[in-house]
Amino acid sequence: MESLKNKIRKEGKVLSETVLKVDCFLNHQIDSKFMLDMGKEFARLYKDKEITKIVTIETSGIAPAVAAGIYLDVPVVFAKKSTSSTLNNDTYSREVKSFTKNKVYNILIAKEFLNPNDKVLVIDDFLAYGNALVGLNEIIEESGATVVGAGIVIEKGFQPGGKELRQSGLRVESLAIIESMNENGIIFG
Ligand code: G4P
Repeated sequence: MESLKNKIRKEGKVLSETVLKVDCFLNHQIDSKFMLDMGKEFARLYKDKEITKIVTIETSGIAPAVAAGIYLDVPVVFAKKSTSSTLNNDTYSREVKSFTKNKVYNILIAKEFLNPNDKVLVIDDFLAYGNALVGLNEIIEESGATVVGAGIVIEKGFQPGGKELRQSGLRVESLAIIESMNENGIIFG
């Protein structure tokens, strides 16, 4: 998505050769209208796939997931990273290891929000090592629902997640793929 690449070039900050800061429109402040543009693009990519539900993971996956949900006209379920007083024990859960943040966390989805008839589009903000996506996919498959594909805002193509997931047969659509980045700029794939 050309407008996203331009926005990353203009507003993103390369913190290191592996970490991109996009707090100004994606991870902290949210550019609402631009989020809708990205949602529209995800909806265009998956429009013929009879998606019934979008699944994402809190926090930064929620905004692009809701934007896509508006255009596909389907509900959005976000996996929680911690349990809450309103969540009973009837949940699917997986342990997810984050290489970027060097921690392990549990993701949870209440069983009532996934059913075997669902055709699910998984949306997330970043794809790096792919562990969050693998955890979400396992939960969705455990519920009996079908994972139709994934929609990613920014894929870091120099990290293995995207390649591994595509090799496993999953359709992965990333709106921008970064091949490399350093203080001189960002190269997109
Ligand atoms: P993975 O899910 O693909 O395996 O990636 P990884 O564990 O390495 O990433 C974990 C967290 O780090 C995710 O956020 C992901 O969005 C974020 N992340 C990964 N690479 C970058 C990057 O280059 N820039 C930024 N800004 N974030 C990155 P999270 O812990 O789920 O955070 P949040 O959604 O609660 O904000």
